[in-house]
Amino acid sequence: MADLSYHRLYTAFRKHDDYDVVFRSALEAVADKMDFSWVKSCLAFGPGSGEREMEFVRRLMPNLRSFIAVEQDYESIEALRTNFEEGRLLGVELSVVETCLESFSGVDSAVDAVLFISMLCNIHTTNRRALFQQLKRRYMNSVGVVIVAENSRTTPSGYLMIMERLGKMRDDYELMEKEMLEAGFRVVLSRISRTSPVQTTTLLSLSSY
Ligand SMILES: C[S@@+](CC[C@H](N)C(=O)[O-])C[C@H]1O[C@@H](n2cnc3c(N)ncnc32)[C@H](O)[C@@H]1O
Repeated sequence: MADLSYHRLYTAFRKHDDYDVVFRSALEAVADKMDFSWVKSCLAFGPGSGEREMEFVRRLMPNLRSFIAVEQDYESIEALRTNFEEGRLLGVELSVVETCLESFSGVDSAVDAVLFISMLCNIHTTNRRALFQQLKRRYMNSVGVVIVAENSRTTPSGYLMIMERLGKMRDDYELMEKEMLEAGFRVVLSRISRTSPVQTTTLLSLSSY
């Protein structure tokens, strides 16, 4: 029988692309422009096993103390916990809420930052709009920042072209940014990273008013 574990399929897929390189180059570009050393707490939606989120934190959020994960895939959560137990983010406390974003009921204390790394495209536009309202009203504090990393269709990569050819059209970053602006966020930095023949990423940060 085919192995339908999301975590294992995704891990296998990642061995065949070069997104790690593209993502790292985006991180360096952002590190040149932004200071996130004040961030102590973050809420990460859809971190999977968390490698990219941990890389982001190690490079850009050196003073983070609390990492709250909202993830629906059990095996990915197990891998995320193992990564923390193995000390891949030293000094940072992990809390996991095993649920889908659409059913998430919120945090006890508003956080400094929210991370969406390769995840917003999985969410229906109606739910995204509702989520952006909740971010402002309940999840983030008044100086909080939202970080989004997504593929950008305006600079098509092999990955997006394959998805389009298969009829798996996904919302692209430009639409998400429009929705966030309509929800009252402002763009602090929008950065398109190096595009490889396979992948493109837009790594940017947005903050609320
Ligand atoms: C493409 S993976 C990205 C994982 C990780 N952020 C990364 O960049 O490697 C998308 C992740 O979002 C999670 N996810 C998708 N839809 C979700 C939802 N509605 N609620 C919570 N998690 C979701 C999936 O389980 C998966 O771990």
